Amino acid sequence: MLTVNEYIQSNKDRFLEELFALLRFPSISADSKYKDDILKTANFVAEKLKEAGANNVEVCPTAGNPIVYGEKIVDPSLPTVLVYGHYDVQPADPLELWDTPPFEPTIRNGKIYARGAADDKGQFYMHIKAFEYMTKNNALSCNVKFMIEGEEEVGSSNLGAFVKANKERLKNDVIVISDTSMISLEQPSLETGLRGLSYVEVEVTGPNRDLHSGVYGGAIANPATILAKLIASLHDENNHIAIPGFYDDVVELSQKEREALNKAPFDIEAYKTDLGVDEVWGGKGYTTIERTGIRPTLEVNGLWGGYIGEGAKTVLPSKAYAKISMRLVPNQNSEKITQLFKTHFEGIAPPYVKVKVTPHHGGEPVVTPTDSIAYLAAEKALEEAFNKKPIPTRGGGSIPIVALFEKELHVKTVLLGFGLDSDNLHSPNEKYDIANYLKGIETIPLFFKYYAELSK
Ligand code: BES
Ligand code: MN
Ligand code: MN
Repeated sequence: MLTVNEYIQSNKDRFLEELFALLRFPSISADSKYKDDILKTANFVAEKLKEAGANNVEVCPTAGNPIVYGEKIVDPSLPTVLVYGHYDVQPADPLELWDTPPFEPTIRNGKIYARGAADDKGQFYMHIKAFEYMTKNNALSCNVKFMIEGEEEVGSSNLGAFVKANKERLKNDVIVISDTSMISLEQPSLETGLRGLSYVEVEVTGPNRDLHSGVYGGAIANPATILAKLIASLHDENNHIAIPGFYDDVVELSQKEREALNKAPFDIEAYKTDLGVDEVWGGKGYTTIERTGIRPTLEVNGLWGGYIGEGAKTVLPSKAYAKISMRLVPNQNSEKITQLFKTHFEGIAPPYVKVKVTPHHGGEPVVTPTDSIAYLAAEKALEEAFNKKPIPTRGGGSIPIVALFEKELHVKTVLLGFGLDSDNLHSPNEKYDIANYLKGIETIPLFFKYYAELSK
């Protein structure tokens, strides 16, 4: 029997090759053109689960993209870990900003560059390889169930129905997800909360058709100008969100909790340099760590209208649009916030335009416990693998199914993420360090070992 490090050393090249094969599939869920690649990716994941030793592997159809399921029940009296991940990825555009093509994984400076490298292919694949180690070396101390979905990046709209219909099959004691960030290889951390999401699209209509801006300009309101004003009014002079009632349900942390949160190592100068900005921005009275972890936000994700092609066209557009998302924190509720936004935004529209607000997907914020045996097991595993105790942090991103799992399956999640915030998720040149990939494969079996021990 090999130790996990011996196993990693002797299989490292294959572990990388397999991940590269997975990364070559353009499994973009947002664009239906890639439907076939989505199916191929799901089949590939299923095949790899089988090879690693999983039973009852199935590519489960849904109304959207399939969910890959597999399991290994070693002994019903042992605790069961459900591993969740997603094989779909974000679109790769703007393509011209990639140094190497997004679906031709390339190693530079010890980092794997590819769309999905960290989010989430590189991260969920660590679980399949750690599982392979455990099954082939008689080291599996818990039952395992895998559920790898293909619609996370578009809101997991069919996952809820799947979970509801498969409660018995998915039954477990803890859910483990590697789809978040840690501080660094020198300072491991565990995210203990995720923000929720409320996503809307707004449409502002002025005149009933595009107009010559010389003939009509100055006499008819320009919807692009009005939209810009409306958007600008959504933050006040302290950069707080100016929608009445928006903060009503926000849980304020105690002074002690805030101090603990701000103890995490964070170099503001390095942060600014990395992002190429001279100053940071945000809600007055809060630090950058707080602004991205425990405070809600409102961001414009897209803004368009009028002529955006080459050259110049003198036009007063009939319509202007924006996509706006709000990140939510406990105890905000996505439906309530969406409704607040809609009422407010429609209410502030001046009489020269018509405003339409269309809700997209949403998700609820979560806080995961830090006193559970699963959290303790994750802490011990990371401490042993990294020689340093991990610190709890609050993540800025959203994984809406975490709240859904709690509601439907009554189980809590451990966010055992190995990415870095600087991995360029959803952005050109997404990457994942080989060192993080291998450390993850080393840490996961330790988690299983300590979770089984502490469950006794
Ligand atoms: N893995 C991310 C979420 C994430 C990233 C959490 C980094 C913590 C740290 C996930 O794939 C994602 O991108 N989620 C979306 C939400 C979804 C509903 C589209 C997000 O956060 O925008
Ligand atoms: Mn993800
Ligand atoms: Mn993502």
